[in-house]
Parts: sequence; C-alpha cells; structure tokens
Amino acid sequence: MHKGDTVALGAPIFTPYLEIPEINDYQFKIIDLLPDEEDEWQYKASELDKLRDPAVKAFFLVNPGNPSSFAIRPSALEYFANFVRTERPDLIIITDDVYGTFVNGFRSLMAVLPSNTIGVYSYSKYFGCTGWRLGIVAVHQDNIFDKRIAELPEADCQALNERYGKVSLQPEKIKFIDRMVADSRQIALNHTAGLSLPQQVQMVLFSMLSLMDTEDRYRQATLAILQKRLEALFRGMGLE
Ligand SMILES: Cc1ncc(COP(=O)(O)O)c(C=O)c1O
Repeated sequence: MHKGDTVALGAPIFTPYLEIPEINDYQFKIIDLLPDEEDEWQYKASELDKLRDPAVKAFFLVNPGNPSSFAIRPSALEYFANFVRTERPDLIIITDDVYGTFVNGFRSLMAVLPSNTIGVYSYSKYFGCTGWRLGIVAVHQDNIFDKRIAELPEADCQALNERYGKVSLQPEKIKFIDRMVADSRQIALNHTAGLSLPQQVQMVLFSMLSLMDTEDRYRQATLAILQKRLEALFRGMGLE
C-alpha cells in the first residue's frame, strides 16, 4: 500500500483504527462500512458493495465488534468470503478478533479467507492482563502479501531490498510477516524484536491453560462473572 491509498473501516470501531490511518506516514483515505444496528450489527450486502471498488486496498474491522460485541454471523461470513474470492481476491483484510474468545462458536475471517487476512489478537481481555501487552499478529503461510511483494515493480523492489538488506543477504526472500517484525524495531534492531522473555513465558502459561482446559471451565467461569457484572450494572442504571 502507498501513502494516500483508500481503506475501508468497519464502523464504529476502536478509536485507534480511526486515528492510525490519518497519521503522516499513511494519510489513507477512509470509507466507512456501516453495520446494521437493527440486525445485530451485521453488514448488509449493500455496504459490502463499497468494497467492489479496486481503489479500496484494505478493509479493517473488529470482529466481534467494539462496542457492539456482536460477531459476524456464519451466513454473512460465507457471503463475504464468496464476495472476496470472486470480486476482490486482492483485498487486504485486517481483522482484530480480540473479543472472539468470548463468543460461543466464534469463527474468524482468518478461517474463511486465510490468504487475504491479517489476524490481530490480544491476550489482554480474555486473560485480564492489559498491562502485560501480550498480543499476536497472524498470517497464513500461503498469503497474498508475499505474492504481491514478489510482483512489485522493479523500483519498489529495489527500495525494499535496500531497506531490508540490513537483516538479510537475500532481502527479496524475506516474508511479509518477518518484514513486519523487522519494521516493529526499525529494522536495525530486528534482533531484539518481539516480546521479552517474561512476556513470552506468561503467554505460554495462558496458552497452555486454554489448551489444557478441554472442558472449557475458564471460559464458562469468565462468562458467568461477566454476566453478573453486567446484570449489576444494568440494575444500577434502573434497567432489567
Ligand atoms: C478492539 C480492540 N483491539 C485491541 C485492543 C487493545 O489491546 P491491548 O490491551 O493488547 O493493547 C482493545 C482494547 O481496548 C480493543 O478494544
């Protein structure tokens, strides 16, 4: 993507996603895709139609939504997947699934459109560990990003090879995900990129808890606590 490109945002959205595209480095033009509040915040086909325009390079969304908390329905996921496969196989999707672990049977866009999707997840909500700053970014091994980098015009390739030549003798072979890791530390500090050792240990402990809790007890207990808190909140507001 280039400075000034157009991106679509699934609105309303966590405010940083409104602010990041505006900053100097990107200056993206934004179009909003508005979900239908009357229909559990689902995207109508007419809203998705805005993505037909090839000028729209990427679609950023939070699923399940913040603040709506509704996930895209399985039928709508299939519709969207079919739309992208047939109409916009080049579309970049960034899905922030941070609330996905709270929703029964949640299915991410990463699962239905693996090649197009960059998945973002934070451990902060589900594990109540906001201050630990634990998160992941995921792309499928077979993705459109690596293919598109390989197809860039010669001038772009040269500029990128110069940029990433600091971390590899064959910079043209560096995968998109590894470029992101290097970018996160201004490339020159690539060797220090990623999470610190204590963070990695904590992340492993949380992940192991989920893998070993085959009866889903942690999630059920978490949802029960959330429900009680919400009920108390509503009672306090005089709502049932
Ligand atoms: C949709 C969404 N993504 C990401 C975050 C931030 O996660 P972290 O605590 O890892 O910064 C939040 C937190 O409010 C959020 O609502």
